[in-house]
Amino acid sequence: MKIIGTGSALPEKVVTNDMLAGFLNTSDSWITTRTGIHTRRLLSIETLEDLALKAARAAIESSGIQPEDIDYLICSNVANSYVSPSLGSMLLSPLGCCCPTFDLNGACAGLVYSLDIADAFIKTKKYRNILIVAAEEPSRFCNWHERETSVLFGDGASALVVTDGEGFMDFRVTGDTHTDVLYYKRALESTPYDRVEDKTEPLVMQGREVFRLAVEASIEDVDVLLERNGMTGEDIDVFLLHQANLRIIECIREHLDQPREKFPTNLQNYGNTSSASIGILMDELSRAGQLKDGATLLLSSFGGGFVTGAAILKWSGIQY
Ligand code: ACO
Repeated sequence: MKIIGTGSALPEKVVTNDMLAGFLNTSDSWITTRTGIHTRRLLSIETLEDLALKAARAAIESSGIQPEDIDYLICSNVANSYVSPSLGSMLLSPLGCCCPTFDLNGACAGLVYSLDIADAFIKTKKYRNILIVAAEEPSRFCNWHERETSVLFGDGASALVVTDGEGFMDFRVTGDTHTDVLYYKRALESTPYDRVEDKTEPLVMQGREVFRLAVEASIEDVDVLLERNGMTGEDIDVFLLHQANLRIIECIREHLDQPREKFPTNLQNYGNTSSASIGILMDELSRAGQLKDGATLLLSSFGGGFVTGAAILKWSGIQY
C-alpha cells in the first residue's frame, strides 16, 4: 500500500495561551515549557464535518483519482455530535463517493489503526482505493474550567488516499486496558430498567501517568519496528510522531539519539489534534516539498485506551 494523496483542514479561530490565561489559572510560560504549545485552532463558526470534507477533498484532488473511484472510506474519530449516523456516512454524498464506510475510534492512534486496516484490505485485494479521514474536535470533550486538560488540545482534520503499491513496509498496533488514566464519558438515555446512574464526565486525564505510558509504549513500538526490519534510527529520514507534547517527542528522540531535524513538529501551532495530528503534519510537510521521494518515514502514535500505532514506509512524492 502507498499514499497517493494528502489533505488537511483547520478551524479559523486561533487561540493563544494568553487568551486561555484570561479565564483559566494558567500562563503562557507554564503551557509553553510543559507542552511546547503556543496556539491551537478551535472550532467556532465551522463544524467538524466542514473540516473533514475540506481535508478529504484536498486529499482526493491531490491523488488524481475521482471520488467515484474510492472503494472504501475509513473515518477516524473519537466523538462528535452524532452517535449515529457515523461521521463517514455523513461525508459520502457531499464528497461524491459511493462506498462502504465506518468510523473507527482508535483515540489518537486512529490514523495509524486506519492505515493498518486499509493495508489489510488492499493486500487481500478486497478494495483498491481507500480514503482515510481523521477528524477530531477534542476541545469539545474538555471541561473548560479545568486547566489540566483544556490547554492541551486543538481541533482539526486530515485525510489520506491510499492504494496498492510499494510504500508501507511494516505496522505495529497495540491495545491495553487503562481506562482510568484517560477517559471521556457520555451519559446515554435512561431506560425504565437501568439501575446505575449515568452521567457525562468531560475528559479526565492523569497527565503524568499518560506521559509515562506514552513514552514507554512509543519507544517499544519504534524499537520493535526497527529491529524487525533490520534498521536503526539512522535508517529513518523523518519521524512523524503524534503531536501531543514536545517533551514526549523529545524523550523518544533522545532514546533514538537522532538529530532534532528528523522530528518535525507543528504542535506549537495546533496543540494536540488527536488522530488528525500525524496526517496534518504529513500534509503540510509534503505540500512544502519537505518529504523527499524515496525517504523512509516512521509514524508513531499513542492514545486513550491505552492504544498505540506505528508504521514504517517509503515515501513516494505527490504532485499538488
Ligand atoms: N497551568 C498552570 N499550572 C498547571 C496547569 C496549567 N494548565 N495544569 C496543571 N498545572 C499544575 C498542576 O496543578 C501542578 O500543580 P502542583 O504542583 O501545585 O500540584 C503542576 O502544574 C504540575 O503538574 P503536573 O501534572 O505534574 O505537570 P506535568 O509536568 O506532568 O505536565 C502535562 C502536565 C502537560 C499534562 C503532562 O503530564 C503531559 O503532557 N502528559 C501527557 C498528556 C497527553 O499527551 N495527553 C494526551 C494523550 S492521548 C491523546 O492524545 C488524547
